[in-house]
Amino acid sequence: MEKTFLMVKPDGVQRGLIGEIVTRFEKKGLKLLAGKIMVVSEEQAKTHYIEHESKPFFESLISYITSGPVFAMVWEGKDAITLTRSMIGATKPTEAAPGTIRGDYAVEMSRNLIHGSDSAESAEREIANMFDPNELIQYEQVI
Ligand code: CMP
Repeated sequence: MEKTFLMVKPDGVQRGLIGEIVTRFEKKGLKLLAGKIMVVSEEQAKTHYIEHESKPFFESLISYITSGPVFAMVWEGKDAITLTRSMIGATKPTEAAPGTIRGDYAVEMSRNLIHGSDSAESAEREIANMFDPNELIQYEQVI
């Protein structure tokens, strides 16, 4: 089983889309191990977006992600990273297919609603950056 870090960004929280987004992953059959509303610190934001450090939009990325509450989550399932990324859709909302979260609800790249880990290594680093290990709840899903 694979774990991934997903985060409803400040625009998604402001627009009241937490429930809609969580519902999609629940209905897909993924298992929610952790979820919390939180304000990302400057330090956490810089760690989270480390691979974009040299990009011209880095400062605006940091100021946006720290501007208001996010909903941070850890989900688990078979191929959870690939599955959730395909459900999230392309980074650029104009390229995100209808039926994906960004395709259905996002317009701007800098306000693209949700983050999803792109690899197992990123997921491990991103989870450790936002959660204490004891915040992840392991349980049997009896359906
Ligand atoms: P995400 O994939 O969550 O992580 C990096 C974020 O940087 C991405 O979502 C976009 O919101 C943002 N981003 C990527 N490219 C650009 C860009 N060219 N200009 C502004 N923001 C960008």
